[in-house]
Amino acid sequence: MSRGNGLSAAQQPGPLCVVGAGYVGLVTAVCLADSGVEVRLLDVDQTRLALLRSGRSPIHEPLLDDLLSKVLRRGRLVLCNDVAEAMRGARMAMLAVGTPPLADGRADLSQVRAALGEVVANATESDTVVVIKSTVPPGTTAALRALCRRSGRTFPLCVCPEFLSEGSAVKDFHHPPQVVIGGDDRVACERVARLFEYLDAPVRITDSTSAELIKYGTNSFLALKISFINEMAHLCELTGADVQVVADGIGTDSRIGRAFLGAGLGFGGSCFPKDVRALDMAASYHGQSFWLLRAAVEVNAQQRSRFVAKIQKALRGNLANKRIAVLGLAFKPGTDDIRAAASIDVIRHLEDLGARVVATDPVAGAKAAAQLPFTEIVADPYECVSGADAVVLVTEWPEYVALDWRRIAPLVKRHLVIDGRNCLDGEALVAAGFTYISMGRAVRRPGRPAQTDHTLRPELLASGIG
Ligand code: NAD
Ligand code: UGA
Repeated sequence: MSRGNGLSAAQQPGPLCVVGAGYVGLVTAVCLADSGVEVRLLDVDQTRLALLRSGRSPIHEPLLDDLLSKVLRRGRLVLCNDVAEAMRGARMAMLAVGTPPLADGRADLSQVRAALGEVVANATESDTVVVIKSTVPPGTTAALRALCRRSGRTFPLCVCPEFLSEGSAVKDFHHPPQVVIGGDDRVACERVARLFEYLDAPVRITDSTSAELIKYGTNSFLALKISFINEMAHLCELTGADVQVVADGIGTDSRIGRAFLGAGLGFGGSCFPKDVRALDMAASYHGQSFWLLRAAVEVNAQQRSRFVAKIQKALRGNLANKRIAVLGLAFKPGTDDIRAAASIDVIRHLEDLGARVVATDPVAGAKAAAQLPFTEIVADPYECVSGADAVVLVTEWPEYVALDWRRIAPLVKRHLVIDGRNCLDGEALVAAGFTYISMGRAVRRPGRPAQTDHTLRPELLASGIG
């Protein structure tokens, strides 16, 4: 997609400096360069820059490699390690640096502050607009604007939060639900809007704090939906219902929607866990206890423990020296990102309980290995399951959903599969001789009717409830 913009020279966005070549910065820089904007992409990570210069993306993201090669070849994207070079003549700077969690859950804004300081000190144009693309807590842009003003650097500062998801980042960039721009300088906000107008998405210009809260509110609400359905899944197990059927039913109501009602191991990744906590901390700072957010985080952590307990129970309480095959390490399919991935917690917990874990992932194996020194990591899923006492699915990669369970049956030691994402075909598994345990649904065993994995409390049965 490229812009047929017909803009006058004054309206042209001019050279754009993107700071941070991570998931957001790299995708934004490559896509905008492909749209016709002259982009300089700045990063402090030399290894990352060297890889990019050779035309290879440091992250696994569908469609990105081809687009990267194209914009490098056409000279639309210039990679920089020097901020002065990147800012020379730039009329816009976009900060896409990390905002990782501090130990107490607040967002660490040190990368944003450092990048802003460098950009502002090296701006050469009088009309440069600075845009914060990173996810920052409510009030951050206003506070940074005041900070710049006090130091005598008065560049318009806007915030333009990003809504792309990993694994579909390029596609999401091209089809955003909306473009949100927050700032107190209307002209500057409109200049930012022009950059994205070729996308044909609705544009919402607002004050910067509202824009920041739209971003946190969206992620937090989606996380609440996931934790809600996971609590429902637990109740389904206790009552004998099927959470997939329940989610389909609830999600059919268009006021609710089916998206993000996928029960399972809960949310991981670099955003939901950190953003829910950061919003809670921001609320606390203003004297508010945002209980719903705390509950969502608690339920999410509990979901991982419940999963390990399911595995333990299925192996009659004893994990010592059991060989557990884990399918999937990335926090979701389509990415090699393992930040806050369920796999890491689950595997460490299993190993603490004495299990020998062998794991596989189509792309995240190398990154996960650095965090899992006691785990055997193999490339081939069929090798992974060989000799396993239990096969555990953690990430719903399409290649694992498509595994041939009849081929796997003679390879494993015990015919036991525990599906943390409710993505496998239970019938096919049972037909291949496996016991199939999933989340919020009945256990299925060969030759036996589906059975809920619970004992109803006798007092409920006696009173006729249940
Ligand atoms: P990331 O950690 O993948 O990338 C950040 C990059 O910034 C790194 O390459 C780092 O070396 C670089 N950097 C840090 N300080 C720098 C400086 N002073 N100068 C130049 N480069 C510098 O981060 P990410 O996942 O792309 O996330 C960036 C922001 O976007 C975060 O606030 C995140 O919450 C938000 N966000 C992320 C996603 C996502 O899918 N990952 C989606 C929407 C929003
Ligand atoms: C999420 C949002 O979807 C993006 O809009 C946002 O821009 C991004 O965070 C961000 O701010 O960084 P992402 O984390 O890449 O994107 O992936 P999601 O598809 O949202 O999944 C997040 C987690 O929730 C994954 O671990 C996934 O397995 C889990 N999930 C998702 C469920 O457990 N159930 C669901 O129904 C959906």
